[in-house]
Amino acid sequence: MSNAFSLFVIIATLGSLLVFTLLLVLNRKVSNPGQTTGHEYDGIEEYDNPLPAWWFWGFLLSIVFALGYLIYYPGLGNFEGLSGWTSAKQLAQQQAEADERFGPVFAQYRAIPVEELADVPAAMRMGQRLFASSCAPCHGSAGSGTFGFPNLTDHEWQWGQSVDQVQATLLNGRMATMPAWSTVLDAYGIRDVTEYVVQLSGREADAGQAATGQTQFNQFCAACHGMDGKGQPLLGAPDLTNDIWLYGGSREQITDVLRKGRNGRMPGFADRLDEDRIHILNAYVRSLAPQ
Ligand code: HEC
Ligand code: HEC
Repeated sequence: MSNAFSLFVIIATLGSLLVFTLLLVLNRKVSNPGQTTGHEYDGIEEYDNPLPAWWFWGFLLSIVFALGYLIYYPGLGNFEGLSGWTSAKQLAQQQAEADERFGPVFAQYRAIPVEELADVPAAMRMGQRLFASSCAPCHGSAGSGTFGFPNLTDHEWQWGQSVDQVQATLLNGRMATMPAWSTVLDAYGIRDVTEYVVQLSGREADAGQAATGQTQFNQFCAACHGMDGKGQPLLGAPDLTNDIWLYGGSREQITDVLRKGRNGRMPGFADRLDEDRIHILNAYVRSLAPQ
């Protein structure tokens, strides 16, 4: 918060405490019990008795408490308070405590190879919870993905399915580079290649256009997607011969990918999750896909 705003907060806070105190002290009646305020209705009068002493002193005490609180804890603008407490520090401390407590629980599975961990139900329950908190926002709670976020429950692995490949995906993340082709291919070129991609995926396609498209595919696309279109995990180039699509399989959607290119990005978790947790997640994610 800016210094001016901080000053404003300090003045407003202390000022209102001061006004409360003055109101309380200056209006205090000490002795005239039995007097009335002069209000009368239907013969009923209102006494003007002093405030009960316990109430008066209780209120003053709460103001003193508030001052003490504002000195000890952060509350007055940018002033940090004598205790040095912040919610961020508290969170870090609680996380450290949780790590100390749960660390060994995760660590005990480290000795079990990823391939065998899928058969340990307790580890998979942990994997599911880790997935729910770290991965589900993008991949969905069941891992089934959505447009631009891969379905992890199918048999296509853009970046490879081996333990090492998945480990690399989770630790370092992945950055896909599918170039845009609108400057290389004209509208007909894009149409023809689209037609060839449709044919590759095993669907009905215009044979003439697909044949022209195939020549262009071999020239421009095969380097990444392979001559057979089956993809290349090293580059994250997806298999185009099945009917599994990250960005949709209609002609319009394929055309759009070809025109604009795509750069899907999977964030790396090396700095957010320790290797014990990644180990469990690796097994969990691989267990989602058909074996
Ligand atoms: C430099 C390597 C490279 C080249 C060259 C390349 N691609 Fe790609 N392509 C990729 C990568 C990587 C992806 C995945 C993009 C992502 O995940 O965001 C991709 C994605 C796609 C998709 C989307 C698949 C889906 O599941 O939605 C299609 C379709 C496609 N490419 C077709 C082509 C065609 C046709 C060409 C040639 C005109 C081509 N690509 C050239 C690397 C390449
Ligand atoms: C910010 C969104 C986001 C989060 C969070 C995220 N992912 Fe991803 N993930 C992606 C995207 C996008 C891709 C595809 C990248 C590409 O286009 O190549 C991906 C790809 C993957 C792949 C590769 C799939 C394949 O076919 O090879 C795996 C495995 C994966 N994610 C697992 C996870 C796990 C496990 C977590 C949690 C620790 C996670 N992801 C968290 C967005 C995310």
